[in-house]
Amino acid sequence: DWYMEAFLEEAIRTIREQTGEHALVVGALSGGVDSTVAALLVSRAIGDRFRGIFVDNGLLRKNEATDVMAMLRDQMHVQVDCINASTHFLDALAGVTDPEEKRKTIGNQFIKVFEEQARKISADFLLQGTLYPDVIESISHKGPSATIKTHHNVGGLPQRMRLKLIEPLRYLFKDEVRKLGLVLGLPAEVVYRHPFPGPGLAIRVLGEITSERLNKLREADAIFLHELRRAGLYEQIGQAFAVLLSSKAVGVMGDFRTYEEVIALRAVATSDYMTADWYPLPFEVLRRISLRIVNEVSGVNRIVYDVTSKPPGTIEWE
Ligand code: XMP
Repeated sequence: DWYMEAFLEEAIRTIREQTGEHALVVGALSGGVDSTVAALLVSRAIGDRFRGIFVDNGLLRKNEATDVMAMLRDQMHVQVDCINASTHFLDALAGVTDPEEKRKTIGNQFIKVFEEQARKISADFLLQGTLYPDVIESISHKGPSATIKTHHNVGGLPQRMRLKLIEPLRYLFKDEVRKLGLVLGLPAEVVYRHPFPGPGLAIRVLGEITSERLNKLREADAIFLHELRRAGLYEQIGQAFAVLLSSKAVGVMGDFRTYEEVIALRAVATSDYMTADWYPLPFEVLRRISLRIVNEVSGVNRIVYDVTSKPPGTIEWE
């Protein structure tokens, strides 16, 4: 891709000019496409003067922290530290059930943890994976009425920490970021990963968040995604995940009545995540996923499939 090759060369030159000989750049990494491509780009330009911070908030999917760290550090050779802050986040979330309050709590904890780590590095610049649509959105959103769900980001951080911003992706669209990722040698499974929200599993464990409930969701979600990949469906779906509902269901096992948790499965086809259609999964795939989850995840006795499009539904349940 000659256009992306040219963009890459130009971006590297700009970053080197901007950061001079000695400046340090810090950035939050999530394992998502945007922050990963931004970090690769800066690492390509200034090597280990880029310092990535990956915050494990205890709200990640099964094996996610390990997998993301292996990809960034071992495979892509990005300088990055993993901060395990699970207990901070889970303590702060105890008793919180309102979706917006969950987001606020997580956003605040994230800033606290990130700031503390970034301060130790005493960086001069903050890397952000802002894309062109984010730039337009932040200009056109004139009030809270425009935001239906407050999205988790690190807004406010740069001013508070007196950091200068580096936003090497701010003139790119998502498909261009993916192309750039491929040019930078990022594996296709990272480039075409489904998006994952900043607040993570907290907004997919409906109602109260406990580590026990998080674990049930984690196991169910891992089975769901594994079976979608196995059936060759993952790439055709815009986003797929499991949700742990806030009500229980009666069931039967042998001679006993059970009263356990319900898992909803969500899979949507979408081009821009602003609208979405529920994805018509083959019955055989649904059957297999349902059987595996009720058999393998203890404390879950019922599986439902979400057949709501957006609008009027949203992609997430909270
Ligand atoms: P909704 O549920 O609004 O989701 O249809 C649209 C897209 O946005 C993601 N999403 C979030 N991402 N922080 C994020 O970083 C959030 O608070 C958040 N809420 C929703 C969602 O996963 C989907 O891709």
